[in-house]
Amino acid sequence: MPYHIGFSQKDLGTNPPEIALLSGEPERSRHIAHTYLQNVKLLSEYRGLHSYLGYSPNQKPILIATSGMGAPSLSIVVNELIQVGIKKIIRIGTCGSIQPHVLVGSVVISQAALCRQGTANDIAPPEYPAVADPFLTVALAQAAQKLDIPYHVGITASVDSFYEGQERVQSSANPNLQSWLLGITKQYLHLNILNYEMETGTLFKMASVYGFTAGCVCGVIAQRTQSEDIIAQDKNLAVERAIKVVLESIS
Ligand code: URA
Repeated sequence: MPYHIGFSQKDLGTNPPEIALLSGEPERSRHIAHTYLQNVKLLSEYRGLHSYLGYSPNQKPILIATSGMGAPSLSIVVNELIQVGIKKIIRIGTCGSIQPHVLVGSVVISQAALCRQGTANDIAPPEYPAVADPFLTVALAQAAQKLDIPYHVGITASVDSFYEGQERVQSSANPNLQSWLLGITKQYLHLNILNYEMETGTLFKMASVYGFTAGCVCGVIAQRTQSEDIIAQDKNLAVERAIKVVLESIS
């Protein structure tokens, strides 16, 4: 039994899932499982890493799993999901926009990630590329197009911290950033990086090194060219759109 996820291959039955949909929040995992899947079974709630086995309307088995916040926790969950037979992982996350044209409520489909993550360096060297599966990325974009959901495909900045690493000063307990972080959001804007989040780069590196398929869709819930704030009233819309894009891509 893998220690952290709290279930084993034999809990996945005779028709085990090869696809896992991975969210940071346990509540999102529960929502996806109970809203969109059938015959849902709770596999584990250990450490808040809630996971569910369910079936799509066309009876495809799907695992819904929780990564927790940040790359260290994600790397443990992903490692164990591969050990129980998962072959494709799609992250359904949230993010902050770094570009004026990437609006709150839209979704970002990551084609690659800049990794500013300690865990990613444990998986592969810093210069090793963090890339999504190209076919899955196209399928996600086509799904967004079909559903008429506003989307962007591009490069994501995956960083270890929500406050310091994403240059939050007014909303942080410590307004004094290290000098190398001052202005980093503007630098990323000029590098055409679309968004900030905290997990995807490590997921992508693990996919290339361990040999599984990975993709990521994040709902945009902050507009960092304007403010540090999470726009709470638009979160449900952004997350629901990300979920719908992912489910359409695997239908
Ligand atoms: N997640 C992040 O990591 N940053 C944001 O701004 C929003 C969600």
